[in-house]
Amino acid sequence: MTWFRALFRSTVGLKWLMGTSGLVLSGFVVVHMFGNLQIYLGPDAINAYAESLRKMPLLLWAARIVLLAAFLLHVLSAVRITQLNRAARPTPYELWSPQVTTYAARTMFMGGVILAGFIVYHLAHFTFGLTHPDHFKLHDAKGRHDVYAMVVLGFRQPLVSLSYLLAMVPLLLHLQHGVSSFFQTFGLNHPRYNRIIRALGPIVSLIVFLGNCSIPLAVLAGLIPYPVVGK
Ligand code: HEM
Repeated sequence: MTWFRALFRSTVGLKWLMGTSGLVLSGFVVVHMFGNLQIYLGPDAINAYAESLRKMPLLLWAARIVLLAAFLLHVLSAVRITQLNRAARPTPYELWSPQVTTYAARTMFMGGVILAGFIVYHLAHFTFGLTHPDHFKLHDAKGRHDVYAMVVLGFRQPLVSLSYLLAMVPLLLHLQHGVSSFFQTFGLNHPRYNRIIRALGPIVSLIVFLGNCSIPLAVLAGLIPYPVVGK
């Protein structure tokens, strides 16, 4: 584990850990959003999708372990990089007026803290069924976990929808800066492709933002019909 300690002690190593773990997490967020969009195809589609994941427990748990490890590494390296940055500048600027950084870049740490809070709430809601156990225990006519009903019934509550919509703002900013920084960290730039690379963060983050926000908004607008609840 000395190589791991060495990685954790150097700024370059920390950025590498942060970039790699961020890539895994961003990949999950994009795939998860497309999975969630299946709600528009109706109860059968999304319940079958959720069921098919559960039928591959080995793959599911391997993915969960990779995701958890990436999350922990991402948080730890963010905390360490912030500590090192603060140590390098113990006295704050007298007049701090950033010239080149973007709002997204400056809010990475705080946005990350809000997102971590959202993830805890989200897991309590949809994965552990702690916040709405009555929605969580529903099953459809085929005896499958009724993910469709759980999501629709949850988002019909305006405060629940609002909390998701608000959390998508820091996610938008975090992904926007994170995806573009990834290419910088790994030196993956070329004058020919730099415009595309710079646009990738805003494009990916906007797709995720719009896709995720559309679900609570569509439920509130009555566009995703109220489910016929199973047992
Ligand atoms: C409107 C947006 C979202 C919806 C409708 C949604 C829906 C869901 C649902 C239904 C589950 C449970 C799946 C199941 O047990 O079959 C789930 C799990 C999860 N979601 Fe989301 N999600 C949303 C946004 C997000 C975001 C933005 C993140 C991360 C930043 C996220 C991270 C997770 C994680 C980590 C799990 C646990 C996956 C597992 O079981 O291992 N979700 N989500």
